[in-house]
Amino acid sequence: MKKQIFIFDTTLRDGEQVPGCQLNTIEKIQVAKALDELGIDIIEAGFPISSPGDLKSIIELSKVVTRPTICSLSRAIKEDIDAAAESLKFAKHKRIHTFISSSDVQIKYQFKSTREKIMQQGIEAVKYAKKFTQDVEFSAMDAGRSDNAFLAKFIENTIKAGATTVNIPDTTGYCLPDEFGEKIKYLFENVKGIDKVIVSVHCHNDLGLATANTIAAVQNGARQIEVTVNGVGERAGNTSLEEAVMILKTRVDLNATTSINTKLICQTSQLVSKLMHMPVQPNKAIVGKNAFAHSSGIHQNGVLKNRFTYEIINPEDVGAKSSLVLTARSGRSALRYHLERLGYKKLSQTQINSTYQKFLMLADQKKDLGDNDLKYLMSN
Ligand code: KIV
Ligand code: ZN
Repeated sequence: MKKQIFIFDTTLRDGEQVPGCQLNTIEKIQVAKALDELGIDIIEAGFPISSPGDLKSIIELSKVVTRPTICSLSRAIKEDIDAAAESLKFAKHKRIHTFISSSDVQIKYQFKSTREKIMQQGIEAVKYAKKFTQDVEFSAMDAGRSDNAFLAKFIENTIKAGATTVNIPDTTGYCLPDEFGEKIKYLFENVKGIDKVIVSVHCHNDLGLATANTIAAVQNGARQIEVTVNGVGERAGNTSLEEAVMILKTRVDLNATTSINTKLICQTSQLVSKLMHMPVQPNKAIVGKNAFAHSSGIHQNGVLKNRFTYEIINPEDVGAKSSLVLTARSGRSALRYHLERLGYKKLSQTQINSTYQKFLMLADQKKDLGDNDLKYLMSN
């Protein structure tokens, strides 16, 4: 049987903390509704201690979005956990997510503390959060750069304290996929009680490895992945939802499944891009404008014969369309395809050849050609 991977979306928290991406309550609700439709299992709705506006947004959002679990973030501090509990007072399914660092560099320089004291603070935070909900997630911030033996002890103790999900973030995006996969494997082999909880991962993209690290973790037993739409997030962003989900769907050899309705991926991507004023790069995997655009003659020829020659994903599966773009690199088969689409049927090879020569002259002057250009070529 396929392993169910839970999708935890943090677009409204890690994504929304990006400068310029802030959303007001109405916009947050709009995104949360879209994430609900998409089939997200857990929506991390915000960090309520950070501002009264964020607290209000989580309260309002959790009144109207009731199917997924709504998660609220808190540092390992009572005041933060109280704010998280307050923000979730109307949520049907609620989770408190509390975090503190486990890496020596952050413990020493940021927290000016010791491993023992920080571990104790994490344990106390989990115990305190349990007073408000049984669904408590603990994150060991910068787990990617943490000593594995200490991390294992820390995670084991937070499980004993009641954490039901333990999250292993590569906060600085430092890990390599093999290394991150090994870390997850090490935890499964060295943490007592780990089989009773959900192991989650949360990767950042500083070296462009967030998605690869996330998948390596799944291959080593992670059951929850933390992602954002379009990969928005702190600095270079987080693991992108669309990439991770489509890898799990496309690579059936991973034997994993998610609850995502992938046909809604592109429209959700466009909504988030618009509301966050964050354009999607054209060559972005899955949701970029060019993700299913074929422009070279060889590729177009292959796709016209059988789309599997150059498409590993059916664009319709993510709510996109395949396109054959006409540029100076296109070939005769794409030209014929578009001319037939415009009603110029049954053209002889000689007619195609002569139109193609005119087409190339024009295409060398323009970046790409549209229907009007083809009509012009056919009328001259
Ligand atoms: O990147 C990170 O470590 C985080 C935690 C709060 C989970 O965002
Ligand atoms: Zn993060």
